[in-house]
Amino acid sequence: MKQRIDELTAQLNRYAYEYYTLDAPSVPDAEYDRLFRELEALEAAYPEYRLPDSPTQRVGGEPLPEFQSVRHRIPMLSLSNAFSPQNEDGVFDHSEMLAFDERVRNGLGGETPEYVIEPKFDGLAISLTYENGLLVQAATRGDGVSGEDVTRNVKTIANIPLRLHGGDVPEFLEVRGEVLMLKADFIRLNEFQTVNNQKLFANPRNAAAGSLRQLDSKITAKRRLHFFAYSIAEQQGGKTLHTHFDELVLLKTLGFSLPDGNYNVFPNIGSVLAFYEAMQHKRPSLLYEIDGMVIKVNSLAQQETLGFISRAPRWAVAHKFPAEEALTQVEAIDVQVGRTGAVTPVARLKPVFVGGVTVTNVTLHNEGEAQRKDVRVGDTVVVRRAGDVIPEIVRVVFERRPMKHAATQSNPQGDLFGAITEARPSENQVPLHPQYRLPDTCPICSSDIEKEEGEAVARCSGGMLCAAQRAQSLIHFASRKAMDIDGLGDKQIEALVAQNLVQHFADLYRLDIPTLQKMKENAESSETMPSENPATALSDEAPTGKTAKKQPVKWAQNILEGIENSRRPELARFLFALGIRHVGERTAKSLAQAFGSLETVRLAPEPLLACLPDIGNIVARSIAHFFAQSEQQRQIDELLAAGVTPQTQAITLPLARYAAPEKWLARLPGFKISETKATALWELSGQSVSGLLTDKALPAEWQNWRNQAENHRLLQNIEQFLAAMPSENDSGNTAAESPAAGKTFVLTGTLPTLKRDQAQAMIEAAGGKVSGSVSKKTDFLVAGEAAGSKLEKANALGITVLDENALLALLG
Ligand code: IVH
Repeated sequence: MKQRIDELTAQLNRYAYEYYTLDAPSVPDAEYDRLFRELEALEAAYPEYRLPDSPTQRVGGEPLPEFQSVRHRIPMLSLSNAFSPQNEDGVFDHSEMLAFDERVRNGLGGETPEYVIEPKFDGLAISLTYENGLLVQAATRGDGVSGEDVTRNVKTIANIPLRLHGGDVPEFLEVRGEVLMLKADFIRLNEFQTVNNQKLFANPRNAAAGSLRQLDSKITAKRRLHFFAYSIAEQQGGKTLHTHFDELVLLKTLGFSLPDGNYNVFPNIGSVLAFYEAMQHKRPSLLYEIDGMVIKVNSLAQQETLGFISRAPRWAVAHKFPAEEALTQVEAIDVQVGRTGAVTPVARLKPVFVGGVTVTNVTLHNEGEAQRKDVRVGDTVVVRRAGDVIPEIVRVVFERRPMKHAATQSNPQGDLFGAITEARPSENQVPLHPQYRLPDTCPICSSDIEKEEGEAVARCSGGMLCAAQRAQSLIHFASRKAMDIDGLGDKQIEALVAQNLVQHFADLYRLDIPTLQKMKENAESSETMPSENPATALSDEAPTGKTAKKQPVKWAQNILEGIENSRRPELARFLFALGIRHVGERTAKSLAQAFGSLETVRLAPEPLLACLPDIGNIVARSIAHFFAQSEQQRQIDELLAAGVTPQTQAITLPLARYAAPEKWLARLPGFKISETKATALWELSGQSVSGLLTDKALPAEWQNWRNQAENHRLLQNIEQFLAAMPSENDSGNTAAESPAAGKTFVLTGTLPTLKRDQAQAMIEAAGGKVSGSVSKKTDFLVAGEAAGSKLEKANALGITVLDENALLALLG
C-alpha cells in the first residue's frame, strides 16, 4: 500500500506540473481524477502513509481561527519606482531610468553592468520556504519584517511545487514571488459573484488578496490562484549561483512558473528600455496583470557592492507603466440588452484616454452595482483600465457632483430653475439628478423589463420581439428539444436575422427557396456574416466560384422540409420553444399535462399555475405575464395562422388534484394568507368563487383586496377558467387512474428495449415524475443492465425496484 501511495503521489504531482506549470498535460482530466480518487481512498485507509507533498492537500482543510505571525529570516523589501512619461506622439521620456543607470555605474566605479528585466506582477508578494525539497512554510509580506503564515492556503495553489523537482535540490531554499489571479479567472470569478449576488472584486489583485487571505483554505482552493517566482532570498546547498539570471534558471528547473518570454538579460540600459517599450505594447495581451517592469543588476557580486538605501535595493528599480486611472464625466446612462435579454446599465463617458486606449463607455453591471457606486448623470468619475481588463468606474468624485437648490421650503427665495451651482456641501443643495434606476421597459422592443427578487440581473421579457434577442430566441425555437427543425443551423438563423428576413417565429413558415438563396448570397458577400467561412458553412457543395450559386438548391429544400416537418409539434415542445423565462422542458411538460391544449395554457390564471407541481410563484408569474403581453399573443396567433398546430393531449395532471381552493387562494398576488386561513375564507364564501367576489360578510381585508379592479378581474378569470376545465371525474382519462400517477421514478442502467427518454415519456404520460437521484421520496427504481450505485441505494432504502417488464405492466 505504501508503495502505491508513493507512486500515485509522484505521478499526480508530475501530471499537475505538466498541466499547470508547463501547460502541456499528458493525460486526460478524467484519468487524473481517477488516480486522485484512488489516492484519497488509500490515504483515508492508511493515513500513516500519506506523504507531506500529497496532492490531496491542494483541496484545502479545516478553517483556521486566525493566521499565525511569522518573522521573515530576511526582510521583504520594496522597490523604488521610476516613470517614463509619454508625450502626445507616444515618445517616451526615459530620463529617470537613465539616471538609475548612471547611479548604478557610478556605484560600480564606472563598470557597465548587465541588467535583467522582468515583469512587475500586480499581485501580492509571498515567501516560500523549502527544507530538503519540501514546502514547509509560506508567508505573506506583511510589514516586510513579519507576515502571516498562509501555508495551508498556498498549498492549494496548483502551480506551486509541494516538493522541488530535479536532482540537485538545495537543503534549504527561500523563494520569493508573487501570487496573482489570471485575468480570465478574475472575470470568471466576478461572473460567478454577479450570478450569486455577491460583492464584485475591483481588480485581479484585490481578488487574489481576498482569496489568499481566507481562513478557510477550501475557499482559496476554489479560487484558482497562480504563482510566479522572481527571486531566491536564501539558499543552502545545491548549485552555486553568480547572477540573478542563474536564480531564475534554477527556479525553473526546480519546478516554478516563470513569465516565459517576458524576461531577459541585456548588456546595457538601451536594450533594457527597448524591451520595456515592447512589453508595454504586449501588456494587454498578457494572461496576467503587470503594472510595470523590474530592472535588476544581474551580477550578485555587483548587487552586493551596490547595497541598499533605506528599505529598497540600489541595484533594482520598478519601471512603472503610465497611470491607468483618469477622471472624466458621465454624459448619460443607457441600457444595453444582451442576446439572452440581460439588461445592463452602461455609462456613456466623455471620451478619456486611459491605460493606452480611449474609453467612451463602461458597464455598470446591474442596477444594484450602479446604485452601490451611486453613479449619476453629470458625475465626475475615476475610470480605470488595467491591461485588457474591461474599463470600470472606480468611484464617483462626490465633491464635483452637479447640485441644485433644494425645494422651495428650505429655500424660501426659491430658484425655480434649479440652477446648477458649484457643488458645495450645503443644507439647501440637493443632487441635480436622482439616483439611477433601470427603466421599466426595454429601449429596443418596449417589452417589460423584469427583475426577480434576490436576482441582480434584470431581463427584457421580449424574447423574439426584441431585436437584441431575436437570433438567440430563434436558435432556441428551432433546437432539437424545442421545435426540432432539421437542417436549419445556427449560422443560417444568424444570417436570416441579420438580414431581417425573419422577425417573428411565423416568418420561418413563410420562407421559400428564393428568399433562402438571397440570404445565402448576401451572407457570402458580407464580411459581417457571423461565420468563419461563410462559403462552406452555408453551402452543401464545395465552393466552385460563381456557378456554385446556380447549382441545385438541395440545401434550401432541406431547410424548408425541416420547417415543414415541425408544423405539428407536441404541446410541451411548442411551449418550451416559445422561450418563456423559467419554462424549461420539464415545466413545459407539466403545463401540457395539466392543461392539454395551447388555448387553455394561454388562459391559465397565475394563482392556478402557481399550484402546479414544480411551478412556484416566480415561474407562474413569468408564464402569466408572457401570455398577457399583447405582442406575444399576436406572435402566437401568427404562428397558428401560419399553420403551426401544437397537438392537444390528454390531461394527466388534472387541476382538481393539486389546485384545491385553499391552495390557489394562498397564492393570490398581493394577498398574503396561509392555506389554513384560506380554507376558512373558502368556507365563509359558501365554497364558491362568486361568493368570494360578492359576499359582503367576508373579512374587510378580503373585501378591500377583491374590490380592486384588477383583482376582481383575476377572480372572475379563475371562476370562468375553472368552470371550463374538465373536472377529474369527467376527464374520462385512464391515465389519471394509473398506479404510476403522482409517483416518483428513477431510471438507472440500460433497459432491454426502451431508450431512457422513451421510458421517461411513458412514465410522464401516465402522470408519474422522473427524477435523477434516489432518495426517500423515490417510489420506484427502474433498473436495467449495469445498474450501479442507484440500485444499491434503492435497496438500502427499501424502494421497490422494477425491471422493464414490471414497468410496462405497471403502466398498463
Ligand atoms: S523583487 C528587494 N521582482 O513589488 C526587491 N518584486 O516593491 C524585492 N514585485 O511587493 C522585490 N514583481 O512583490 C521583485 N519581478 C519582481 C516583482 C516584484 C512584483 C513586487 C513585490 C513587492 C513589490 C516591491
